[in-house]
Amino acid sequence: MAYDVNLSGMTLKNAIITAAGPWAGNAEGIQRCIDAGAAAVITETICLEERQRISPRLFMKDQQLFNTMLYSNLHLEEWERVLDRIDRKDAKIICSIWGTSASEMAYLGKKLENMGADALEISLSAPIGSRNKLIGYHSPDTEDFIRALVDTVDIPVMAKLSYESASSPYFIKELENAGVSAFSAIDALKGLLGVDLEKKRVLMPTYGGYTGTNIRPVSLAMTAMLRQYSRLPVISSGGVLHFEHVLEFLMLGATAVQLASVIQLYGYDIIYSIIASVENWMASHGYKSIDDIRGAALASLRPFEDIVPRTLVATNSKPCTRTDCTLCKQSCLKEAITRNDNGEIVADTSRCDGCGLCVERCPDQSIRLSWR
Ligand SMILES: Cc1cc2nc3c(=O)[nH]c(=O)nc-3n(C[C@H](O)[C@H](O)[C@H](O)COP(=O)(O)O)c2cc1C
Ligand code: SF4
Ligand code: SF4
Repeated sequence: MAYDVNLSGMTLKNAIITAAGPWAGNAEGIQRCIDAGAAAVITETICLEERQRISPRLFMKDQQLFNTMLYSNLHLEEWERVLDRIDRKDAKIICSIWGTSASEMAYLGKKLENMGADALEISLSAPIGSRNKLIGYHSPDTEDFIRALVDTVDIPVMAKLSYESASSPYFIKELENAGVSAFSAIDALKGLLGVDLEKKRVLMPTYGGYTGTNIRPVSLAMTAMLRQYSRLPVISSGGVLHFEHVLEFLMLGATAVQLASVIQLYGYDIIYSIIASVENWMASHGYKSIDDIRGAALASLRPFEDIVPRTLVATNSKPCTRTDCTLCKQSCLKEAITRNDNGEIVADTSRCDGCGLCVERCPDQSIRLSWR
């Protein structure tokens, strides 16, 4: 069954794209993304100024991943050899680029187009270092900067957005006016791992890109917002670990979805596994095309002002069988939840104001909200 996708005139064989990053920083990595079934591979960001990597550059605590990797450590000439070596099969190659001036951006883009790039992604606002201060947000130069590239090349140009730039309808409009043909969102958030209290030192030497599962809610919101205030396709990025996450982004209107940290953490085989699981889920639900689900959840997303307040209170939906759990009790600032002498959890509807936190936290769905 075909779940192909049209992205800015390119036909992708599925909705999974591997994001810009070190997993696609050389020929072997790109080949492994292609061999694992990715419909398109975005290269690590290519600049004219090659930069050696710092070590260590990846930091992790629990599920929080941080990196201090700015862009590729390969020269443009080396990228020519990389792009020559790979067997593209039916995958598209999207080159992520960054330049420090309009002319540099146009030069780099044209070179990569001539080397066979199917599309370009401008890495507009990486959170590491200070390279993108000029145009990462509003700037009078933004439109000229991007237009120089768009006017020079004959392939689609996508803009990769930070959380901040994706949140600004004015900035999005500037990028549309400049001629970009799609948005990738979001890039990593700016983050710090923490502080060693005894040594009074930060746990990583500079600000890093914070990625992975914890940024998914932010990225989901940005996909929905971009979908609502732009007509251009959105390629979602941020926190995709499972096939269900891919489906969530698609239902919020994404055209395609990028995998990043998940490859860094679990290896290239996860790409195949996520693609297969998405297709199995689609087939098992009788969907014949991604269009059957794309944007399907947006109708249920309403402006806050349109939500009519309801008078709901917590009630028991079934007897609580856990004696060692206090989650509902500790969640309730109104002290509406108590355990009675028989050990039963009881919600006092006269104290409850319907915030819903106890319901959200109950592992057994023993409490629900009902009309007062
Ligand atoms: C180690 C690492 C390196 C990255 N390098 C780049 C890069 O070169 N260019 C870029 O645009 N994004 C880069 N990113 C950002 C990813 O492409 C992606 O947008 C971000 O990680 C959010 O997705 P995730 O939460 O699924 O990881 C990098 C991310 C990681 C984890
Ligand atoms: S809904 Fe909120 S106020 Fe009501 S019992 Fe639960 S936690 Fe307390
Ligand atoms: S949160 Fe649920 S399981 Fe835990 S004590 Fe309350 S009703 Fe019981």
